[in-house]
Amino acid sequence: MSFIKWPFKRNKITYESDATIEVVPKHVAIIMDGNGRWANDQGLPRMRGHKEGMDNVRRIVKMASGEGIEILTLYAFSTENWKRPKSEVEYLLKLPKEFLNVYLPELIEENVRVKTIGHFDALPKHTKKAVQYAIDQTANNTGLILNIALNYGSRSEIVNAVQSIAHQVENGNLRPSEIEEATINSHLFTKELPDPDLLIRTSGEIRLSNFLLWQLAYTEFWFTDVHWPAFTEAEFSAALHAFQLRKRRFGGLKETKKE
Ligand code: IPE
Ligand code: IPE
Ligand code: MG
Repeated sequence: MSFIKWPFKRNKITYESDATIEVVPKHVAIIMDGNGRWANDQGLPRMRGHKEGMDNVRRIVKMASGEGIEILTLYAFSTENWKRPKSEVEYLLKLPKEFLNVYLPELIEENVRVKTIGHFDALPKHTKKAVQYAIDQTANNTGLILNIALNYGSRSEIVNAVQSIAHQVENGNLRPSEIEEATINSHLFTKELPDPDLLIRTSGEIRLSNFLLWQLAYTEFWFTDVHWPAFTEAEFSAALHAFQLRKRRFGGLKETKKE
């Protein structure tokens, strides 16, 4: 097997058997952590870390798009992040608008399609407005899907799914024995998306923090100590390279591209 370093020239590895395995993950999910610590390390206020983190999204989106990744899901604000001081919550929820104000034209030019997962309705009006505008403006784009997890929490996502399936049963539209994995999938925020192939978490924490608990069942994990604002193209490249070397078996004995 050849080892491909970024920038990738090809996105397939050919094995001796002539079988080809796609090596670029189709769906990459990132827990963008460590903005506060990054700022703290340089004696800057936490908000500065969030701002740098936001600018880094641009770099990473560009690279993801260039590498042929189809979906990039970014954890931007969790259902637990409301616990932070009000001023920080307000700042964090202003960032999508700031980001889109500056970068939406670039996203459009790159043929990126913006989507979100999470409890959208509970977001402040100004956040919803800016994000909805970006969703609408990019709705017909056919390139990278930039899927922003905003006010996202996996447990509440599953609770909502269970409630809505229970209603269907109550109304006589579904028998309990008819509930299968696909039923649950179809009630999640991610219903239109394949599960992530690769999960990246920056800043050294080895936990999921309520992110995509159902969807990550067979995802490859990659952790780095680097804080999100310092997560460069070279870091991303290292993660993609590590992914290429993973042998995904999905419970079977042979390496498989997909379940
Ligand atoms: C990630 O950075 C941004 C969000 C969680 C919204 P943090 O703000 O969690 O930074 P640390 O983990 O405190 O360094
Ligand atoms: C996870 O980071 C959430 C986001 C990156 C949006 P946190 O910083 O909130 O996670 P914990 O609190 O360290 O688990
Ligand atoms: Mg954190």
